[in-house]
Amino acid sequence: MKSSNQVMIAACIAGVLASGAAVWQLHAADANEDAIKEVMKTYHKAPKGTDPICKKAMDGKASPEELKNLVAGYKVLVGAKPPKGDPASWKDKTTKLLTAAKSLEQGEAGAANKYKEAVNCKACHSVHKPD
Ligand code: HEC
Repeated sequence: MKSSNQVMIAACIAGVLASGAAVWQLHAADANEDAIKEVMKTYHKAPKGTDPICKKAMDGKASPEELKNLVAGYKVLVGAKPPKGDPASWKDKTTKLLTAAKSLEQGEAGAANKYKEAVNCKACHSVHKPD
């Protein structure tokens, strides 16, 4: 009885490891293509009737956990290749976002205004978002 349980556990661990590897490969393949979209969908967009994290952050209502995730999301943006537009402009815009999100996380004075300026959807989309 004991040994069959051990076999089950071993099979289970193997399954978890296998699916983990598959997910990892999927992410690696999509990393450049979809990283930006993921960040947009996760932090800039929200289901109808709820505030996206970026709005909460502007209003000073984002939780420490949300701000931490936001910083991580913007790190991804800084490292991503823009689908359109000048890479130097992309670096500049995304670095400003990252810096502003970090200031929010640290509760610095004026951070919300800095973030509002950096998270200008249209200013970035008009240059870097494909039609
Ligand atoms: C620093 C630049 C930048 C800023 C700021 C920015 N975006 Fe984006 N966003 C992009 C880029 C680039 C894409 C296109 C990604 C692609 O097609 O690969 C995009 C795509 C999107 C998409 C489409 C995602 C999808 O699944 O195709 C949504 C929704 C979006 N942005 C919402 C917003 C909102 C709302 C704001 C403002 C609160 C915002 N974005 C601010 C760069 C930015």
